[in-house]
Amino acid sequence: MTQRAIRAPAMTFRGDPFHLAPGEALQYWPDALILIEDGKFLRIDDAESGLAVLPGDVALTHYPDALICPGFIDAHVHYPQMQMIGAFGAGLLEWLDKYTFVAEQDFADAAHARDVAKRFLRELLRAGTTTASVYCTVHPQSVDALFEESVRFNTRMIAGKVMMDRNAPEALLDTAESGYAQSKALIEKWHGRGRQLYCITPRFAPSSTEAQLEAAGRLWREHPGTYVQTHLSENQGEIEWVRQLFPERSSYLDVYDHAGLTGPRAIFGHAVHMEEEDFACCHRTGSALAHCPTSNLFLGSGLFRMFDAKKVERPVRVGLGTDIGAGTSFSQLQTLGEAYKVAKLGGHALTAEQGFYLATRGGAEALRLDDRIGSLAPGYEADFVVLDLKATPLLEFRLSHARDLAETLFVLMTLGDDRAIRATYIAGEPVYERDRAESFVYPEPTP
Ligand code: GUN
Ligand code: ZN
Repeated sequence: MTQRAIRAPAMTFRGDPFHLAPGEALQYWPDALILIEDGKFLRIDDAESGLAVLPGDVALTHYPDALICPGFIDAHVHYPQMQMIGAFGAGLLEWLDKYTFVAEQDFADAAHARDVAKRFLRELLRAGTTTASVYCTVHPQSVDALFEESVRFNTRMIAGKVMMDRNAPEALLDTAESGYAQSKALIEKWHGRGRQLYCITPRFAPSSTEAQLEAAGRLWREHPGTYVQTHLSENQGEIEWVRQLFPERSSYLDVYDHAGLTGPRAIFGHAVHMEEEDFACCHRTGSALAHCPTSNLFLGSGLFRMFDAKKVERPVRVGLGTDIGAGTSFSQLQTLGEAYKVAKLGGHALTAEQGFYLATRGGAEALRLDDRIGSLAPGYEADFVVLDLKATPLLEFRLSHARDLAETLFVLMTLGDDRAIRATYIAGEPVYERDRAESFVYPEPTP
């Protein structure tokens, strides 16, 4: 039995601030004592009462001028696209052909995949992200590389091999049969191994035949508990292409619904151009959306309608995605800053509580992991971040004028980035500490 204690201000969500008053949704401890045992939260108390009963032999770390919150959750990210972030000038379809499909071919080389996976996990942790739903490439070895590195850090990752059997370069194509067989073998190898979870990943409707989408749906039904991720209604040209490729389907989302690819643990990236019936379908089936604001702005895709998605009569689960490499930052703080601006251009003000909820508990709800991660609560896996309220001279100065927690959080969304992440804990272990000589340390493997 290993115990450790952390003292700092802390916050978590007990409910959804899109539907509850902020004070009901958010719990805040101005000075908390967090007790962790064997990788999980044992209790969270006010420091005064917690310290009074803390056994003398438990290591105690104190973070003043900080704020602890649950680890950030990235609901949509492509690790192979790290090498092409900031590719100039194109809209979605040209961007895919000109840059993405070129970069992804490099992942036929397992050594390259391992190198990028290693860098990727470190960028996530540096940004305070503790769980992500990750697209690999069509190559099974790209999935092995990602999960192998995730096992080393003991992070909870969701990931899968991209399936594409048309409309991409020959070197990136599988077939309906080989995509099914390779994905099945990867599920057997990785799903439920430690904290790793498998995600069946048909890239998007234009790059899969109906036969491949149906094979993906069959595979999902055969393996309960696995995930599905794909792209949906990101760009007008893409939507028109889907209309031409699937004339018998009533909408883009209907293509996936028809193939059995909607339901709990289905995650649709972007969903920028949605009709009411599409939101209703997501609500009815329990499918989740990943809002990727930096990507939607970078590619000029459009403005996600968060407040329509979250309508109280038929709420849809929404997580926040960086969508690296169309997205431009690993930081969920920066992503939230852009989510605020996207909402504002659509006539709504995203509150700081709503923002931090999306990046933590809301993301966990979208990924159906809200019984394990995304909250500071007894029994939950102890993945959390230590935000540094004095990370930069500007942040320190600005926050000295903040009147309350909501203002502090909103300033973090506006000015914060990876510099504001002082430490990232995975299952109770400080795997990343910004100011440590060796910033990244693998935890001791658990027996
Ligand atoms: N649609 C299909 N593939 C992709 C991708 O890699 N990135 C984005 N942003 N959209 C996609
Ligand atoms: Zn994407």
